[in-house]
Amino acid sequence: METKVYEINPESIEKDELKAPAEVLKNGGTVAFPTETVYGLGANALDEKAVKKIFEAKGRPSDNPLIVHISKIEEIDPLVEEIPENAKKIMEKFWPGPITIILKRSHRIPDVITAGLDTVAIRMPSHPIANKLIEMSGVPVAAPSANLSGKPSPTKAEHVIHDLKGKVDVIISGGSCEVGLESTVVDATGSIPMILRPGGVTKEHLEEIFEKVEVDQAIEEGGMDLIPKSPGMKYTHYSPKAEVVIIAGAVEKVVEEINQLKKEKEKLGLRVGIMCTDETKKSYKEGVVISMGSRKDVATIANSLFATLRQFDEKEVDIIYAESIEQKLLGHAVMNRMIKAAGHHVIKIGR
Ligand code: TXA
Ligand code: MG
Repeated sequence: METKVYEINPESIEKDELKAPAEVLKNGGTVAFPTETVYGLGANALDEKAVKKIFEAKGRPSDNPLIVHISKIEEIDPLVEEIPENAKKIMEKFWPGPITIILKRSHRIPDVITAGLDTVAIRMPSHPIANKLIEMSGVPVAAPSANLSGKPSPTKAEHVIHDLKGKVDVIISGGSCEVGLESTVVDATGSIPMILRPGGVTKEHLEEIFEKVEVDQAIEEGGMDLIPKSPGMKYTHYSPKAEVVIIAGAVEKVVEEINQLKKEKEKLGLRVGIMCTDETKKSYKEGVVISMGSRKDVATIANSLFATLRQFDEKEVDIIYAESIEQKLLGHAVMNRMIKAAGHHVIKIGR
């Protein structure tokens, strides 16, 4: 299948630039587009046949439901049964932006979107291309991350082109994604909001407007054996070709341990990759050493985590040692993705 690639500058979208991709969406095609979190692969959410094309292109399991994206608040009414007070508060404070809200679905949502659940995930992205594209298409847009299932989510157009060229109708190349991690998923159907997937809007942000915020225990440390409330959280994710191992503990000890492990593996003839931070980079002598960003500004780490994982694929390493970072604020979402990339392989070292 031929994939059309359109280059669009999000800072100055020309009047007619999004017309063709919007038409494709409206007419049942698939369009990959940038959002403020990661690139999404969109299709008309009310068109079952179109939505099935997303699952096919990604190789996504059919029991993993999709997020429906809207551009204006009015568009939500036909999609849900009701909007509880908690959901309204989240929308007012954080929409448009990197948070997805789980609500009771209306009968208009096809089963293929919700994987048979009685709820639907809704998000209003703030990225100008995403917002304008959805508005011009005139339909709600189902969009998972625009990567092959299991691979790191795409934060640059080149990642989407690598994974999906030839499998989708259109790819909009519109620069890098600001947040770099997928949206926070929050269930607003109960009396206390519950985070099902940590993301750009943190627990601390939500606590600014709610007295209490819960986190699905299945996604917390030690919750490995529980069944996550968000079906997608159970899958292997973000896997580069090489095995990933996280080394957790005090920073200096972590550096020491990684240097030691590197020596041992290299003796065995393996190529080692090190995923470090700006502050520790100079502590590793040679080899494939890539910094994720600065510990002083975790947003820089969130922003480049997925791109860094993909870079190691290009360098053809056999094993990647990754430094853990502090699990607070956005660090919570970063570590959640890293632990999944590592298939829960974390070596904890004493302080
Ligand atoms: O930032 C994002 O959310 C990106 C951009 C493109 O908007 N999209 C994204 O979609 O990350 P995806 O499909 O990769 O992840 C959607 C997550 C999955 O973990 C899925 O299981 C969960 O949302 N989800 C969808 N509908 C749900 C529902 N009704 N109840 C619980 N979880 C749901
Ligand atoms: Mg995804």
